[in-house]
Amino acid sequence: MALWGGRFSTGPNDAVAKLSRSVHFDWRLAPYDVRVNIAHVAGLRRAGVLSELDAAEITRALKELSQEIASGEFSYIDSDEDVHSAIERGLVAKLGEIGGAFRAGRSRNDLVVTDFKLYLIDHLLEVAHETIELANTIDATATQYIDLVAPGFTHLQHAQPILFSHELAKHSHALLRDVDRMKDWLSRNSISPLGSGALAGSALVPNPEIIAAELAFQGVTRNSIDAVSDRDFVAEALFIFAMLGVHLSRIGEEFTIWNTQEFGWVTLDDAFSTGSSIMPQKKNPDIAELARGKSGRFIGNLTTLLVTLKGLPFAYNRDLQEDKEPIFDSVEELLTLLPALRGMVATARFNGEKISESVLGGHALATEIADFLVRGGTPFAQAHEISGRAVALAEGKGVEVHQLTAAEFAGIDPRLSTELQEVLTASAAIESRISINGTSTKSVTAQLGQLEAKIRGYSSWIASERKRFSGMMGA
Ligand code: ARG
Repeated sequence: MALWGGRFSTGPNDAVAKLSRSVHFDWRLAPYDVRVNIAHVAGLRRAGVLSELDAAEITRALKELSQEIASGEFSYIDSDEDVHSAIERGLVAKLGEIGGAFRAGRSRNDLVVTDFKLYLIDHLLEVAHETIELANTIDATATQYIDLVAPGFTHLQHAQPILFSHELAKHSHALLRDVDRMKDWLSRNSISPLGSGALAGSALVPNPEIIAAELAFQGVTRNSIDAVSDRDFVAEALFIFAMLGVHLSRIGEEFTIWNTQEFGWVTLDDAFSTGSSIMPQKKNPDIAELARGKSGRFIGNLTTLLVTLKGLPFAYNRDLQEDKEPIFDSVEELLTLLPALRGMVATARFNGEKISESVLGGHALATEIADFLVRGGTPFAQAHEISGRAVALAEGKGVEVHQLTAAEFAGIDPRLSTELQEVLTASAAIESRISINGTSTKSVTAQLGQLEAKIRGYSSWIASERKRFSGMMGA
């Protein structure tokens, strides 16, 4: 159904109708559109634009429509331009002429932003929930491996011994930053543009604050031109999703490497792996690879929107209709990917023997030699140099640096006394790293406890937001 036409001599050409149509994707906004319209009708009633009777009739029909949308009984048809026109068609079918009375004092320009914000609040909370679930699964796995030592890498080369817990838990920290960004997004973007009309404000609804309060919003925008043109909230959400996608891709990459025959650190559960159509023996880490691969589209979706917005004149332009598909795609892909990745992590079996086996490879204790000298009063640059000479000697002999004999150490420098042997073990190296962010058992145990507390905090934030939001949505 067309929401315009009075000044036109003909309807749109078929190709034009096809081009401008958005209902096949913006139908996802239908439940929010109905809810916004219910609040708007109440505003029109308060303003005396709609009689009590008409407002009650329209509200009843909108609620009916809401149920029919939920059950699938009412949906869009080919001739609908967008979700807003489809819903008006449904209303007119129920009420006749008065079905068109409800859109006084607002425009699709402020309506679509309102609907989209509500959709995003709702779905951002879902993504946040799934992200926390993954962080929690990783945290639980990390807790399980608190006793396991592992080689830590820089440049994919052995660097220093660490606890495997520490290695795993780093991902939870990154994921919780994403959740924190979602929380921050909500605190900034939960404001309603209703009352902005097409661009100049509304002459018929004087109190959009009341309508905003009836929806899930915490305030009202203060410039109508900005409000109908602003898509910062979309770009911010797409950035958060892209960043999250990048974090997931790094988890994916790590598991892919750990799952190689060369590493053999992890065995993925059959239910979370895939096979090859030609090589019967194959068991591939496709979930981890898809986590890596999907990050491309999340970044692409952010780029798509930013390019659409760049240089756009004010206020509303139809270009802005292109804002939705990138979000729908990122949201839907993330809500598919996150549970799959969580399942993969939860069911993975780690091969502790293999993980700890090479912990001292690559002269991983060389830093301990330098630190030992510094503790004895040697300036670090000199200590670094002496330790480097020890590595060179070990390399020449084909052994690891910690395997040099007391005589060989003393030959390099007399300060490399026999007490040095005591610090040249993986556990001594690990347990000496007692800084608040370090890898000692004490530090990691405290860090895991803090992670759990954070996870609980974010979970209760999500629960309370969801409750507030679903209350507003009439659920
Ligand atoms: N489907 C449109 C969109 O998503 C709704 C707003 C249309 N406004 C207009 N002035 N044509 O942006």
